[in-house]
Amino acid sequence: MSRKIIVTSALPYANGPIHMGHLVEYMQTDIWVRFQKVNGNQCWYFCADDTHGTPVMISARSEGIKPEQLIERVYAEHTRDFKNFHIEFDNFYSTHSEENRQLSELIFNRLMEKGSIVQSEIEQTFCESCKMFLPDRFIRGVCPKCKAENQYGDSCDTCGAAYQPTDLINPACATCGTKPIIKKSIHYFFRLADYQQQLKKLIGSGYTGKSVSNKLDEWFAAGLKDWDISRDGPYFGFKIPGEENKFFYVWLDAPIGYMASCKNYCDKNGLDFDKVWNGKDYELYHFIGKDIIYFHALFWPAMLMGSGFKIANRLFVHGFLTVNGVKMSKSKGTFIKAETYAKYLDPEYLRYYYASKLTDGVGDLDLNLDDFVAKVNSDLVGNLANLASRSVPMLTGKLDSKLGALDKTGRELVNQLIGVKQQIISDYENLDYASVIRQITSLADAANRYVEQNQPWSTIKTDAEKTRTTLTAVLNAVKILAVYLKPVLPVFVGKIEKILNIAPLSFADVGALLENHKINEYIRLAERVEKDKVNAMTEESKNEQPQPALEEPIEPECTIDDFKKADLRVAKVVKAEKVAGADKLLRLELDIGGITKSVFAGIAQAYEPEQLVGRLVICAANLQPRKMKFGVSEGMILAAGTGGKDIFILGIDAGAKPGQRIH
Ligand code: 2FM
Ligand code: ZN
Repeated sequence: MSRKIIVTSALPYANGPIHMGHLVEYMQTDIWVRFQKVNGNQCWYFCADDTHGTPVMISARSEGIKPEQLIERVYAEHTRDFKNFHIEFDNFYSTHSEENRQLSELIFNRLMEKGSIVQSEIEQTFCESCKMFLPDRFIRGVCPKCKAENQYGDSCDTCGAAYQPTDLINPACATCGTKPIIKKSIHYFFRLADYQQQLKKLIGSGYTGKSVSNKLDEWFAAGLKDWDISRDGPYFGFKIPGEENKFFYVWLDAPIGYMASCKNYCDKNGLDFDKVWNGKDYELYHFIGKDIIYFHALFWPAMLMGSGFKIANRLFVHGFLTVNGVKMSKSKGTFIKAETYAKYLDPEYLRYYYASKLTDGVGDLDLNLDDFVAKVNSDLVGNLANLASRSVPMLTGKLDSKLGALDKTGRELVNQLIGVKQQIISDYENLDYASVIRQITSLADAANRYVEQNQPWSTIKTDAEKTRTTLTAVLNAVKILAVYLKPVLPVFVGKIEKILNIAPLSFADVGALLENHKINEYIRLAERVEKDKVNAMTEESKNEQPQPALEEPIEPECTIDDFKKADLRVAKVVKAEKVAGADKLLRLELDIGGITKSVFAGIAQAYEPEQLVGRLVICAANLQPRKMKFGVSEGMILAAGTGGKDIFILGIDAGAKPGQRIH
């Protein structure tokens, strides 16, 4: 009976591009989903952009755009990349959606009612200039342990020490450099410890693999801690019900995004979300990387338990990607974006390479670029594509494009290929794609040997029918290999289906023979990879600049009412003089309708004092006096420009009267 299966991959953050590292997971998942579909199951693949949080807010601010604009642009980039790499979601949605807001509120409210969420006061670092609480990654300072400079607020990249942001020496806001202060705030906490027993039971029942459950046992032994699920504004996220300036922490609504994507799909396709998401007859699987186990094996199931939702059948965890044996690196050109890769190389080559190395383990996967070139050229081009490229043109050119019947040896070859079907199915099911690829390669070797033994290029000169019989066996082998490869190489296999003139293949077709059947013209299946292309790709990756950003980020929003607080008046310059020791400043004496104010203005490089005396200017008259090195400044005149000589005083009609209000 056909199974009903829901599958998710971790949601990519909406503040950066998809890169080779992300693709390990999306390819692993996509291959599994495609396998389920070609194996006759019903399977739905849901994902979304993970849009909330401080990094998105800050990136948008530094580009001078709204977070909504940023996430919309990134959504278009992500969907373009996924399409290029043949990652076929049934729905790719966004956590910044109405469905997600409603589900997040529903789960939060249920957890509140149950007493699983409590409030408590905490102390946090706050930047008075940015007017925001600073997440650990937005504070930089000197490591308290090894004294390395410019380290994050949570851990040191140099010595690996983990600490609190308050332990940093000389802490500074990463955005503006201001020294943060400590401020108190009430936060919402999820009482994870209340779920320890239930979670232990879940893990004990095979929710994760062995190495992951060992890690979880360590966490259980240490005792689970309450989880801070709120953030103070400004924050890009969903407001907490009943609060004015508190938001759900991004990691609360992110996994709920799996549900929201499913709900959005169900609503669009006339399906009952409650049945699909929560029904017993639907299986549910999450694919994630090992860096986010804590969230998916503890917080997420506990949230679901507390709010009465079903837990996934299993959590599949993979390792990290290394390139040429080390972490991806911008300077080495191995931090390769999906977009850059696709400019130079066929995305299916990467699918093939990753598949050849993926198992169900959490070990890291290495993309060795030389090995990649060698493997694609020898296995995919030299072995698999070669089988079709040496057989099809002979059949179409000299044998009326017609397959004949299999003889005894042809039958043996084909039976050998059919014989591994159950093993291939079970390897796919258990995520051992490396084993699938090994078997396919060795079967393609066997088929190529069969060609060598039967020498169709010689027999064609003397015995057309013998040649037809040989090629019939070869193309039956190609067809079976195509089924086995289909989850990994959908486009490559699509071309084989076209050449063989057959309907889309599935595992059910493995045993059906292709005899006395007309085929189509050959289409080129794969090109050799040239090392030059790989080099050009890494060179381009080296030169890629980070996203263009404003040097000075846009300041936090102010309201029109804030703006209106400035009392602007016409003022007459009665005196102007240079300031000794300050080559940018002029001191101006202003007459604001009978009131005299002394103002220091940074316009000395743009104006000579004598140009200004007698001139009407506009003054912000209610600014709090500010003590400067050279005296007290009692206001500000309106002038704008990029600095130096490029500063222009805002003028006013000669008939205006000092003291007159400007609106
Ligand atoms: O680690 C990450 O990249 C997160 N954006 C993954 C979120 S997965 C899910 F919980 F939403
Ligand atoms: Zn700041």
